[in-house]
Amino acid sequence: MSKPDSNVLIAESEIQQRVGELATQISADYAGKGGLVLVGVLKGAFIFLADLSRRLTIPRVVEFIAVSSYESGSASSGAVRLVMDVRESIEGKHVLVVEDIVDTGHTMHYLMEMLNTRGAASVRACALLQKTGCAQVEVNIDYVGFQIGDKWVVGYGLDYAEQDRTLPDIRVIQPED
Ligand code: PRP
Repeated sequence: MSKPDSNVLIAESEIQQRVGELATQISADYAGKGGLVLVGVLKGAFIFLADLSRRLTIPRVVEFIAVSSYESGSASSGAVRLVMDVRESIEGKHVLVVEDIVDTGHTMHYLMEMLNTRGAASVRACALLQKTGCAQVEVNIDYVGFQIGDKWVVGYGLDYAEQDRTLPDIRVIQPED
């Protein structure tokens, strides 16, 4: 069982401050570019995307996408498959893929390649969390909230077996407990 009330890694106030900083930076970078399509990656990004999108000061629309990783035994094979697509065409649009966390990089790499091949005007990546030292594929994350070590984290959209997604802060758990 997880022990979600211990081990707060990033407090709610820190998250909210950093989300505001990211929104300010993104708003400045896309000012005058005719709008931004935010593509949230389900499920984990839904809370981050909700907060980030509301703090932007530029024209924006929200889309969602969902992917699944192929598993081989308990380890991820790195192969990613699309299970739900965006609703509107992103051709000619500026796109920002919004993730809760980048770990091996396979998911973000797959999505950025796919969206680029559809003729987006630009495709950038934003992740609240990026694990250091875990990349299996090279992918540049343009906007990163926090770098973290190789820990299992829950809260603010992140789950363990679908639990703890709606915690307001980010906590470290020991799944084997
Ligand atoms: C998590 C996270 C990313 C992906 C990152 O999703 O939300 O989409 O893993 O891992 P990677 O960099 O190794 O590809 P998860 O599969 O846990 O699904 P969820 O968002 O529905 O919880």
